[in-house]
Amino acid sequence: MKLNEKDAAQLGLDAQLPRPTTSTVDKQSSKRKTTQIIRLSALFGIILYLSLYSSNLFGAQHGQNEAFITKNDGPLNSYWHGIATKGMKFSLPRPEKHHDHHHHKHPHHPHGHISPKKAEKIFLSVPSNDSAAAASERYTSYPHPAGSGYDLYSALALKNEWEKELGLRVSGANEFVYEAGSAESQSRIRNGADKLGVWVDTYYPILNTPVHASVTLLTDPPIKAKLREDIVDGDPDSQLRDEVPVFHGLSASGDVKAKYVYAGYGRKKDFDLLQEKGVDFNGKIVLTKYGGSFRGLKVKAAQEAGAAGVIVFTDPGDDGEIIEANGYEAYPDGPARQPSSVQRGSVQFLSKYPGDPSTPGEPAYKNATRVESGSQPSIPSLPLSYEDVIPLLKALEGKGIHASELGSDFTGGLEYHGVDYYIGPSDVDLHLVNEMNDRVLPIWNTMAVIPGHITDEVIILGNHRDAWVLGASDPNSGTVSQYEVVRGLGALLKKGWKPLRTIILTSWDAEEYGLVGSVEWAEDFGDWLVDNAVAYLNIDGSASGTNFHASASPSIALALKAAAEEINFSSDPERSVYDTRNDGGNWDEFSAANSGEEQLETSTIAGGSGIGALGSGSDYTPFLQRYGIASSDLGYKGGPKDPVYHYHSIYDSHTWQAKYGDVGFHRHTDAAKVIGLLTLRLADTLILPLNTTQYARDLQYYLEKVQVIANSSSLSLDGSINFEALALSIESVGKASIKLDKEKKELIEKLRKLLPKPKFGHNGPSFVSRIFGKGCDHHKKDVDVEGIKLPIPHLPIPKLPSPHKLKEIKEVLKEIRVVNKKLQHFEYGFISEEGLKDREWYKHKITAPGLWLGYGATTFPSITEAITIDHSSSLAQKEVDDVAQLLNSVAQKLNA
Ligand SMILES: *[C@@H]1O[C@H](CO)[C@@H](O)[C@H](O)[C@H]1NC(C)=O
Ligand SMILES: *[C@@H]1O[C@H](CO)[C@@H](O)[C@H](O)[C@H]1NC(C)=O
Ligand SMILES: *[C@@H]1O[C@H](CO)[C@@H](O)[C@H](O)[C@H]1NC(C)=O
Ligand SMILES: *[C@@H]1O[C@H](CO)[C@@H](O)[C@H](O)[C@H]1NC(C)=O
Ligand SMILES: *[C@@H]1O[C@H](CO)[C@@H](O)[C@H](O)[C@H]1NC(C)=O
Repeated sequence: MKLNEKDAAQLGLDAQLPRPTTSTVDKQSSKRKTTQIIRLSALFGIILYLSLYSSNLFGAQHGQNEAFITKNDGPLNSYWHGIATKGMKFSLPRPEKHHDHHHHKHPHHPHGHISPKKAEKIFLSVPSNDSAAAASERYTSYPHPAGSGYDLYSALALKNEWEKELGLRVSGANEFVYEAGSAESQSRIRNGADKLGVWVDTYYPILNTPVHASVTLLTDPPIKAKLREDIVDGDPDSQLRDEVPVFHGLSASGDVKAKYVYAGYGRKKDFDLLQEKGVDFNGKIVLTKYGGSFRGLKVKAAQEAGAAGVIVFTDPGDDGEIIEANGYEAYPDGPARQPSSVQRGSVQFLSKYPGDPSTPGEPAYKNATRVESGSQPSIPSLPLSYEDVIPLLKALEGKGIHASELGSDFTGGLEYHGVDYYIGPSDVDLHLVNEMNDRVLPIWNTMAVIPGHITDEVIILGNHRDAWVLGASDPNSGTVSQYEVVRGLGALLKKGWKPLRTIILTSWDAEEYGLVGSVEWAEDFGDWLVDNAVAYLNIDGSASGTNFHASASPSIALALKAAAEEINFSSDPERSVYDTRNDGGNWDEFSAANSGEEQLETSTIAGGSGIGALGSGSDYTPFLQRYGIASSDLGYKGGPKDPVYHYHSIYDSHTWQAKYGDVGFHRHTDAAKVIGLLTLRLADTLILPLNTTQYARDLQYYLEKVQVIANSSSLSLDGSINFEALALSIESVGKASIKLDKEKKELIEKLRKLLPKPKFGHNGPSFVSRIFGKGCDHHKKDVDVEGIKLPIPHLPIPKLPSPHKLKEIKEVLKEIRVVNKKLQHFEYGFISEEGLKDREWYKHKITAPGLWLGYGATTFPSITEAITIDHSSSLAQKEVDDVAQLLNSVAQKLNA
């Protein structure tokens, strides 16, 4: 690997960057008279809120920050005194004089108060496609798989980029790089939510790297698979193909000579079907196509069926319409699949336990005690290109069952290349060799904190950084989008903005091996997360096609949707980002049309918010499914009409991205705008924009879904299941939630009345609606806001509430705090300590990765799988009753 000199120079690890000055802020502030009304009122609301946080009324942990309330002098009195004598706009503390540093309290500029609405506007003006394209080129100019030297380089480079954007000194390569578990690393989170800073945490999971691999068909003469992607003229990045050989992360070493069979997608149900038809997998090598389930679960299913090895190949039949059979040329001459492209990837048993295989439930510190978790396969596996698999499939022709007898799932796109799919077994042996080097390797999470006024309500915005090779889409399009968000937040910080709530930015490592960086970090700080995190917003790849896609906890779904509806799609501003969900065609419709079957009711969301449930396959998993933190995931994905995205291949390159993936790099920035807007709203809205009523509605929908499954599985069940208790508990959650919604409204009304006399400002209505938690409801903005008495005081010095009113205000804010805590901890109510059956690491009873799906979500997993996997109505009944009990206590907490 050669160091990219341009990069190295650009990043200048030791360069000193000028710190932002405040003088421009002063100049600007004088020009901002027109918006002063808004700022004053923002200030007012926030100050009131904070005054209560900072007083001891709530017993909240704080006090290490926010110097404006001194501990000694009756905090609120001196605070209001400050307002009365100096005018509201000077009431926040003057910046402390800091000389260096990186790790310091965030300076506070007295003139820098920016209303939430203004902050959004400033933020949205920052993301730029040219900046995104340049970042994409920087991040993808070298391979950076987890645990490699270039991975460390990328972690340090990103640390420096974030420092620069957030207005910090650009640190040296050895600075702020911590051992996980060290006092420094711990205190960055546990005592650091009030300190602006960027650092790197080092964890030590078991990973493996390829030593040697071969696949040989033992005909005479033998046919040896290339196991290598081609260097192609149109994509200079392809010269780096050998930096990361084609292999399966966390695969087992092995040397197997055996007959082989073809098992379609290799899902559990495919093995079951084939075994029913008399196919014997014992001691055989299994050929399966990619698609339909997570690759590690294909290996698991094969292993459990007695197989000795697995080959997972890419079949162009899953490439949609953009295939050579339809007249498209292969990449790089055209948008169809490069025949030698291979999908690398992890074969960890993701749905059982993600993260470092050797430290389940515990952080992978250097000195961690290692155990056997059973999350890795015991039989070897390798990925193949379609070009390489053709001779193997041809050698099966005429052997065993004709695939067409088993339905369209078993045939594929290689018919165009002369293959007639048969199941086998083969006459001839296949020789599969996979030699891996398993060992503990260091990985590096790059982290940042942007302190808010409130430090125990934290929004986390995460993306992973490691790539199988160059990873222009996966993950670097997401890393680019996140970088654009950081630039936007940096622009705000430089204007003196400080969010109401703390924001944490994370760049995870080793996601590709099995969500390792995020899982280890979440396991490290689980107790802190449960107490302090409000939401985890994930972005993996943000641009691999033209369909906007989002999944989320139902409580976040509407806020996410509102943000995506509000951002105009850059390439066609007449439409919103949300409107582009099917620009590249719809996979369900495509498969239905292709198979001639009726379209199945596949959507889990028809009755819900329009935003689907989260399964797994990316870093939100530990946050949502183990620690009960409301989460979301979004980005642009490929549809059946989009150029073929070479997932986990050398051809997921900047060259591909610029030519086919996201021409003009606007989707990178559109995704940044959506997730940035959502981040700002979660961070800056007085009452958290989490909707528990929407959650209750989605629960009702999940109930209908599991009842349909129970009905259609009734033949395989030994009795019937009574869902009454569950239905009633969902109703209770709904009722309690509606009551809470009412309470939110009333508290806002009360606060409005208590605040000084209203006077409408120009931008007043939307600002007030934002501050008071209606920001996401932009469609109804005008209706909702009309007639509201805005608490905007007269200029220049607002009339102050009387001491009596002040006391009442404090009481209202105290109640708002209680409501926010209910909203913050709502999702945690779905966590059950005992976890899911046979995979106790997963603790969320409403959504989990399907046991045999991996990527896809299964809702009410414990109930659904008792029906579909255990075929036990008594177990299902027990699970129904358990979930009902859990939901009843969720309702109780809302009512409390
Ligand atoms: C690992 O080291 C940390 C601090 O260095 C210590 O607190 C912890 O107990 C050690 N863990 C084990 C398993 O030795
Ligand atoms: C989207 O476009 C409309 C009309 O062209 C404009 O009024 C609106 O401000 C734009 N929204 C954003 C978030 O830029
Ligand atoms: C950025 O967008 C503009 C306008 O669409 C376009 O002309 C330019 O080529 C884009 N930049 C890149 C690097 O693609
Ligand atoms: C919350 O969700 C419910 C149910 O979909 C909806 O009626 C309500 O308008 C939402 N509230 C807000 C503030 O978006
Ligand atoms: C399931 O079957 C029961 C009894 O036959 C019926 O009452 C119920 O409506 C069905 N539920 C669904 C969701 O199909």
